[in-house]
Amino acid sequence: ETEKTLAGKTVLITAGPTYEAIDPVRFIGNHSSGKMGFSLAEQAAKRGAKVILISGPSAQKINNENIELHKVTSAKEMLSKVLEFYDRTDIGIASAAVADYAPKEIAKEKIKKNDENLTIELVKNPDILKTMGEKKTHQFLVGFALETQNEEENAKGKLEKKNLDMIVLNSLRDEGAGFKNDTNKIKIFTKTGKTEFDLKSKEEVAKDILDFVEEQVLRHNTE
Ligand code: C5P
Repeated sequence: ETEKTLAGKTVLITAGPTYEAIDPVRFIGNHSSGKMGFSLAEQAAKRGAKVILISGPSAQKINNENIELHKVTSAKEMLSKVLEFYDRTDIGIASAAVADYAPKEIAKEKIKKNDENLTIELVKNPDILKTMGEKKTHQFLVGFALETQNEEENAKGKLEKKNLDMIVLNSLRDEGAGFKNDTNKIKIFTKTGKTEFDLKSKEEVAKDILDFVEEQVLRHNTE
């Protein structure tokens, strides 16, 4: 039996990819499986938290009555769901791989293959986590970063820019890390330090992340 270290806390987690519709049958998406976010949700629930899990399209299943699953499709839907629960959130963890751009217009009918070239205009999606950072009152905010270059500087930059308390960096250079894999290798940055972890299953990584969050939140509360 896991110790109920997060009892009384509401943890909001975003997970999975987002799908941005092009027309009624097509979309722009990515390969995020949602595994990291669902593992975090399971672990947080085991520790007694009330979990609000807001997920884009994902094949992952949950099986815990302390997890409230809200399925969304696009980034805009994910943002409005997040905002619905944000005030009552104590710890926010953004593990979703949100599409950066969405088609400017969704075609009403299926686009026909008439022309040799087809241009789809894309517009920037809202940054969900950045919005959470701007609206932060009491929430402890955790972001993820997946970088291919200048990874540590970029991760630290995001910590600042998005007003986060902590950022989890997964490197694409590490074999077995990120995205579709069942394993992950992370580094955690806070405003004051950096901690490196070994390659582990996403379940073990979720435990490491939550241990770290708990330690930070406790420190916050006693300062
Ligand atoms: O800026 P970048 O996409 O690298 O930041 C990654 C972090 O920001 C992740 O925690 C991701 O869930 C979050 N994010 C978001 N909304 C976006 C883009 C990223 O919440 N539109």
